[in-house]
Amino acid sequence: MTDRPPNRGMRRRIASAVAALTFTSPAQAATTLGASAAESGRYFGAAVAGNRLSESAYANTLAAEFNSVVAENAMKWDATEPNPGQFNFSGGDQIVNWAQARGMKVRGHTLVWHAQQPSWAQGLTGNNLRNAMNNHITGVANHYEGDVFAWDVVNEAFEWDGSRRQSNLQIQLGNGWIEEAFRTADAADPSARLCYNDYGTDGINAKSTAIYNMVRDFRSRGVPIDCVGFQSHLSAGDNLSSYQANLQRFADLGVDVEITELDVGGSGSGQAATFKTVTDSCMAVSRCTGITVWGVTDKYSWRNDDPLLFDDNYQKKQAYTAVLNSLNEGGGTC
Ligand code: XIL
Repeated sequence: MTDRPPNRGMRRRIASAVAALTFTSPAQAATTLGASAAESGRYFGAAVAGNRLSESAYANTLAAEFNSVVAENAMKWDATEPNPGQFNFSGGDQIVNWAQARGMKVRGHTLVWHAQQPSWAQGLTGNNLRNAMNNHITGVANHYEGDVFAWDVVNEAFEWDGSRRQSNLQIQLGNGWIEEAFRTADAADPSARLCYNDYGTDGINAKSTAIYNMVRDFRSRGVPIDCVGFQSHLSAGDNLSSYQANLQRFADLGVDVEITELDVGGSGSGQAATFKTVTDSCMAVSRCTGITVWGVTDKYSWRNDDPLLFDDNYQKKQAYTAVLNSLNEGGGTC
């Protein structure tokens, strides 16, 4: 290349590229979270409780604003396998059917977790627990194959200091259980993206670094892991100075990253600012494929500090506007 000014053909191409840019950005600013996220190839989802879908304001808000759902509880071990080997998919199926009828995507949450296990599994030891874990993963992932685009295969297996959580799975099965869970999930549903999901990973810290090291090891040895979920249960004013850099270092390992359970305790501009930082961060990381908030409305949040985007009366909060604007401002496509 030389420093000569662009010739006529090149000038024409530049002019038409500029025109295309002019016509695609502000003119198409979307007016819902899902549509706006979709403009960069992302999703914007909400955790859903099936028994709320009969409330019209709940259902209407969910259908209008979001393009992805995750079952808040209905796909967990206690709900899907109340007795050994006896699966019950009614709650999960209700949510899947509702979402698919509206053209929405479904995330799967969660195959293996220390919490919300059925009581029969909590007492198992050794190979009985191993067989139960693998049988559970296989049964649930087989059933939802083709319905969920991603699974939280393992949830919350690390402590703040980066050590393994001393759950029944860890104590009975040893360090290899996470790898085993991913391999079993991959065999049961080869097409769903398989995620590790945790909280307290909102920056570069001991816990996120331990997970990073695990993911790096899995990638180097060909253990099937495709994505990392960052729950992001936050409060207004939390220090998020390395939030984006943390997402990026995981993405650089060759996995997608997703914000999976976002909620922010607080109100007004402080709450909005924290939501905006998280959304801006996802938009700035091309492998950040989407955001899920942990509920539709403050009215039914699992927290009591009004952490969501719609208030008790389904009115849009300041945080909603901050998120929508951030999504519309673009960031990288994914
Ligand atoms: C929560 C649900 O929101 C509650 O309804 C339930 O009683 C407990 O679990 N991390 C997770 C989610 O991965 O599954 C949890 O969901 C919130 C914390």
